[in-house]
Amino acid sequence: MEKQKNLVFFFCFLSFFVLLTGFQVVQCSSHHHHHHHHHHHHRFSSVGISKLFVFGDSYVDTGNNNKTVARSWKEPYGITFPGKPAGRFSDGRVLTDYIASFIGIKSPIPYVLRNRGTSRLSYGMNLAYGGTGVFNTLILDPNMTTQIDFLQKLLHDGVYTKGDLNSSMALVSASGNDYTAYLAKNGTTEGLPAFITSIINQLTLNLKRIHGLGIRKVVVTSLEPLGCLPQRTASSSYRQCNETDNAVVNLHNLLLQQAVDKLNNESKDSAFVILDINGAFLSVLKGQSAHPGISKFKNPLKPCCVGVSNEYSCGSVDESGVKKYTVCKNPQLAFFWDAVHPAQQGWFTVYSALQASLHQIYQG
Ligand SMILES: *[C@@H]1O[C@H](CO)[C@@H](O)[C@H](O)[C@H]1NC(C)=O
Ligand SMILES: *[C@@H]1O[C@H](CO)[C@@H](O)[C@H](O)[C@H]1NC(C)=O
Ligand SMILES: *[C@@H]1O[C@H](CO)[C@@H](O)[C@H](O)[C@H]1NC(C)=O
Ligand SMILES: *[C@@H]1O[C@H](CO)[C@@H](O)[C@H](O)[C@H]1NC(C)=O
Ligand SMILES: *[C@@H]1O[C@H](CO)[C@@H](O)[C@H](O)[C@H]1NC(C)=O
Ligand SMILES: *[C@@H]1O[C@H](CO)[C@@H](O)[C@H](O)[C@H]1NC(C)=O
Repeated sequence: MEKQKNLVFFFCFLSFFVLLTGFQVVQCSSHHHHHHHHHHHHRFSSVGISKLFVFGDSYVDTGNNNKTVARSWKEPYGITFPGKPAGRFSDGRVLTDYIASFIGIKSPIPYVLRNRGTSRLSYGMNLAYGGTGVFNTLILDPNMTTQIDFLQKLLHDGVYTKGDLNSSMALVSASGNDYTAYLAKNGTTEGLPAFITSIINQLTLNLKRIHGLGIRKVVVTSLEPLGCLPQRTASSSYRQCNETDNAVVNLHNLLLQQAVDKLNNESKDSAFVILDINGAFLSVLKGQSAHPGISKFKNPLKPCCVGVSNEYSCGSVDESGVKKYTVCKNPQLAFFWDAVHPAQQGWFTVYSALQASLHQIYQG
């Protein structure tokens, strides 16, 4: 445990951006806010998409991280939905939940809960683990390759059939943990361009493999503007995105776009789609300053839940269990929940901004 705590500190100082914030002991008072804006549209029953398989990290994980150590299972995570910590890196719902509602299904069951009853297996499965990347990061949870291995095993074991996968969509998220790990291990941004290429190459292999298993539509998120995450804007009192970081993001997204275009050229059924969460984040974060007052976020760059000082973060407690973080009065008014993750309202806004591209997925 101590070791893991130190690892988190090590990370906070050395890394560029931190998604790997899953490890602290937390105890604090609970807040309860109830808010529901779940939509069940059943838009795609006509094209027969009835299952969702999810791969990646904390932007889409709904409960696979280790319950005894991950902060997604500690207060104050989950205070908005479901009202207590439930394995999501947010105060409430994450992107996965909104994508599932768009398809018209329940959010798929986390992989670690697959043996808890078969009824929820029918919505697909969430194999994403917070803190992971396409390559191994500094935590031991399964990387994306291993997550795909898990699905292959489920197929082999007959939990799902090829026919099931033919009526399925995959949601794939690689939102920056590979970069965090690279910089922590390497200590320098030298060699970063080559590393971006290797990430995209591996991600492309993963997308191809997921489609090869029989999943009809494979949707991959673009990389969000890392330079706008609270972790990176805290030094400007949450006023300015770091454009150096965002330039790296733009290169990543350009290479991803080229790779996906190529996959679609080769597969001819336009199976692969980029969900541009980078554009969606930027439209909220920057549109705000261009048109103040247009959205409900007072300062969208400012997170709701923060540590009381640099050595603490959202969810931190000291040895005697005293909480070392503060939570804003109304998480519904925050775009960001913690230093790297959107709040439920943030994800809802991102999802709303993605409506047009989501509809396009099913026109191809
Ligand atoms: C979760 O972490 C605890 C404490 O480190 C460990 O004892 C346990 O084996 C882990 N559980 C799983 C499923 O990995
Ligand atoms: C994923 O993790 C496994 C197990 O640690 C490892 O053998 C494999 O090389 C990793 N895959 C990639 C692409 O890094
Ligand atoms: C998958 O479903 C589509 C549409 O229902 C159908 O045309 C196609 O033949 C199916 N493919 C397989 C491999 O079952
Ligand atoms: C660190 O960067 C150098 C180039 O500056 C590169 O050759 C090396 O492979 C990188 N190390 C790791 C662990 O990625
Ligand atoms: C932006 O981040 C880079 C490292 O990626 C750093 O060298 C630079 O000082 C930062 N710029 C600002 C304005 O903080
Ligand atoms: C895809 O195919 C079109 C026409 O066949 C071609 O113009 C385009 O350059 C190809 N794109 C990629 C990324 O291969």
